[in-house]
Amino acid sequence: MKRQLNSYIQQMTLEEKIAQLLQLAVPFFEGTESAGQITGPMAAMGITDETVRNTGSVLGLAGAQEVINVQKAHLRSNRLGIPLLVMADIVHGYKTIFPVPLAIGCSWDMELAEKSAAIAAKEASVSGVHVTFAPMVDLVRDPRWGRVMESTGEDPYLNSQFARAFVRGFQGSDLTKETDRVAACVKHFAAYGAAEGGRDYNTVDLSERQLREFYLPAYQAALDEGCEMVMTSFNTVEGIPASGNKRLMRDLLREEWKFDGVIISDWGAVKELIPHGVAEDEAEAARKAIHAGVDIEMMTTCYMNHLADLVHSQSVDEALIDEAVLRILQLKEKLGLFDNPYRGADPEREQEVVFCEDHRAAARELATKSCVLLKNEAVLPLRPEQHMALIGPFAQSGDILGPWSWLGSKEKAVQLYDGLKTKLSTSQLTVASGCGIETETPEQWEEAWKAASEADVIILALGEDSDMSGEAGCRADIRLPEVQLRLIEKLKPLGKPMVAVLFNGRPLDLHGVYDQVDAVLEAWYPGSEGGAAIADLLFGDVQPSARLTMSFPYSVGQIPVYYNSFNTGRPKDALDAQVKYVSQYLDIPNEPLLPFGFGLSYTTFTYSDAAISADTMTLERPLHLTMKVTNTGKTAGEEVVQLYVRDLAGDVVRPVKELKDFRKIELQSGESQTVTFTLTEDQLRYYHADLQFASDAGAFTAFIGPNSRDTVELGFRLEK
Ligand code: GLC
Repeated sequence: MKRQLNSYIQQMTLEEKIAQLLQLAVPFFEGTESAGQITGPMAAMGITDETVRNTGSVLGLAGAQEVINVQKAHLRSNRLGIPLLVMADIVHGYKTIFPVPLAIGCSWDMELAEKSAAIAAKEASVSGVHVTFAPMVDLVRDPRWGRVMESTGEDPYLNSQFARAFVRGFQGSDLTKETDRVAACVKHFAAYGAAEGGRDYNTVDLSERQLREFYLPAYQAALDEGCEMVMTSFNTVEGIPASGNKRLMRDLLREEWKFDGVIISDWGAVKELIPHGVAEDEAEAARKAIHAGVDIEMMTTCYMNHLADLVHSQSVDEALIDEAVLRILQLKEKLGLFDNPYRGADPEREQEVVFCEDHRAAARELATKSCVLLKNEAVLPLRPEQHMALIGPFAQSGDILGPWSWLGSKEKAVQLYDGLKTKLSTSQLTVASGCGIETETPEQWEEAWKAASEADVIILALGEDSDMSGEAGCRADIRLPEVQLRLIEKLKPLGKPMVAVLFNGRPLDLHGVYDQVDAVLEAWYPGSEGGAAIADLLFGDVQPSARLTMSFPYSVGQIPVYYNSFNTGRPKDALDAQVKYVSQYLDIPNEPLLPFGFGLSYTTFTYSDAAISADTMTLERPLHLTMKVTNTGKTAGEEVVQLYVRDLAGDVVRPVKELKDFRKIELQSGESQTVTFTLTEDQLRYYHADLQFASDAGAFTAFIGPNSRDTVELGFRLEK
């Protein structure tokens, strides 16, 4: 097939080839008058109807009939009949919206994560989408950053497992045959989540070792799983913006990782080389980006307006353009678009498949596995004979889909009130807003006071507006908004049990919440079936089993705070630690409020009989570590048994703990299970001072427990 695709390239003019490297949003395909609204008049961007006719791909187009119409028109006008590639952000669902990825991460369930991506792909592909701009696998350590909701958290191993699961779900095993799947595009390459100050688009400056140890593994895992595309990020990496960074793309992606798929810039990121200060004008931006390896320029026209001149002046070799065009045509070919430019688009089938009951049931199941029980002082599960007051801005809110749910319907989302009504008679459930997200009125308060006064239990539905996280949704103060903290304060004197259900896109500073209420359920943005899932959990119809994959800081002053940190030379908790001259704050603890891996159940578990198969591991002889886990409570429950390791003396400093494996197990009341982990030498490898990836002989500690804090230690040595 490569030969035939090369024949297209031989027939194309230079302008036609360059247009294949351009991606435009939908309005440009709806006639010139509407296009001007997106990014200034078309003319100002140098875009003509001719440009649109030759454009290689479109973003943000969805809907079977809409795609069929646009593709039909495109094929009629494109001289060689080269089909458009249709790409869109289908991050955690198409119309059936699943919990945001940070919530899915807390499920520690790769099967359900894969299933959610497969359902998203099925709804997207029947609606005409070919490629999704997902999975986002950026490692995150700073909850001020708005896009932490889009990541699965702070651990490279867990993020890698989820990256693989999402790619498998989106792509299946054969994109040509399986038209119910879409191509995936892993993003944002690279280390977008390390923006200084948690401020979006801000500088990222990490050592190569940090990059390789923490930030790169999940991208590599996605590509190892066959991910078809990579999206470059807005940020700098070692002083060079990712979209103009040859070391990142040519040396690392292409040479070292042997990635031969399509690389697309993020929206406008090629032109942003100018404000970054590495390109004087759009011509230089185009030259740097094509030399660095960006195949598709998203939504700016540096390539369109300057690549031809750069080729004529021999500043850019036309072969670079041919390579990029070939990769794009190969992806179109793999998706079967030359044989069937409409692929899976089917308006009739779309009606049956999109937002169907089975998909909503899957969204509800995943949401029950993603909400984390953070506190419970004997108030949950709720008893149906109790009278409840549901109070807060999220009591009757459809804003529970979270960012990147642009095709979802807030109106059709199952609100918390809807969910609770299925568990209680209406006479048992009074609802009042109490306040808005950031506003309040006397009437709201009076209504809430009345409802609370008549109730046995107060369920508080609190959180952030979904615009307070997501892209460019960064906050320096990550507490709940003042009015909501005041609402808790004013209800407290009633002395009634209070359960806080939180809807938010980041770990919050829970001052004024965690210490004030009797139970806290972290619901994140739970998606289309959120209210039903939360009600299932609050009444114990489903046992809470989720575990945090991002630390909850004690306060914003601690940030960045994450479990896999380094010990320092003056650790505060050392046995011989001095009183003052150690690594500590004078006014707050070093530890987060809630650690990575933390989550409660309605039952209790004990860990006992920890054992290790030998004191030493060799290259040939792995270690087996066992732990007996017993459900000592009255109800069945799921536990995530976690295995961490610490290298006590490395070539460079090593994290105090690194997650190496986990087991999610279900135990009936009184039941015990012995969990066995196998540890092998390759799991102990890391990047040395000279960046060689290898393990060291020496002493290690293994840790097994229900989270990254409460663990049992087992020492061993590696002998080589
Ligand atoms: C945005 C986001 C990226 C998204 C793209 C297309 O700016 O950074 O994640 O895929 O534009 O919508």
